[in-house]
Amino acid sequence: MNLDETAGPAVNGLPANVAIIMDGNGRWAQRRGLPRSAGHLAGVNRLREIVRTAAELGLESLTVFAFSTENWRRPDYEVEVLMRLFRRFVVREVDELDRMRARVRFIGQRDRLPADLRRTMAQMELRTAGNDGLLLQVAVSYGARAEMLDAVRRMAVEVAEGRLDPDKIDEATVSQNLWTAGVTDPDLVIRTSGEMRISNFLLWQSAYAEYAFVEECWPDFTPERFREVLESFAARERRFGAVSAAV
Ligand code: FPP
Repeated sequence: MNLDETAGPAVNGLPANVAIIMDGNGRWAQRRGLPRSAGHLAGVNRLREIVRTAAELGLESLTVFAFSTENWRRPDYEVEVLMRLFRRFVVREVDELDRMRARVRFIGQRDRLPADLRRTMAQMELRTAGNDGLLLQVAVSYGARAEMLDAVRRMAVEVAEGRLDPDKIDEATVSQNLWTAGVTDPDLVIRTSGEMRISNFLLWQSAYAEYAFVEECWPDFTPERFREVLESFAARERRFGAVSAAV
């Protein structure tokens, strides 16, 4: 196995590539007697801070799960609130993200999103494409199984057209056909709100990732707590299936 593809260089012992399942906005709001939309709004504000912290710490990439393929089953009103928040995030944050030299990329089923949101997302990607700082990947209408199905279909077409030899398909071929193509796999996946599930997030990419499940709901996940979780990762020994001396 080529470890370069699965493990990014640690920055000061911290993981270089981090992914977050931002869970618990609804519960955070309900516990305060607020509508769920207030939780999502608090979640956006938290995201802004965590992105800034990730950039300051010199992480290579941060991938956040904003909306899953399953989230379309939520009530229309909640879906509309989330779409409005995404739109606002893109419009309001583009200058700041560009200033911090972050590169933004969206992964997921774009064709299911409203056309104006798709356009704003594309503009943000274009505007930040040349930046050399943190890569922020935002997963919207994302599901790992949908992503893998898409990759399988794409490879099948290439095979059918004679452009891909089935015997030559290896792990790198699959990685290159995923929506995350070209991005280093996560070293650490964090999930907030105490739930211990993967929920169809980066299934292929997280094969060798460490996991951290934290109790705080996403709006309570402070930059200080984020640093603590990253530091606790630094203390872990990753062996990628080998024994210590071989890594
Ligand atoms: C999970 O909480 C969170 C979501 C489905 C949405 C995540 C979205 C944000 C943090 C908003 C901003 C994102 C961007 C990119 C602007 P939940 O609603 O599942 O909470 P619950 O499990 O307590 O009900």
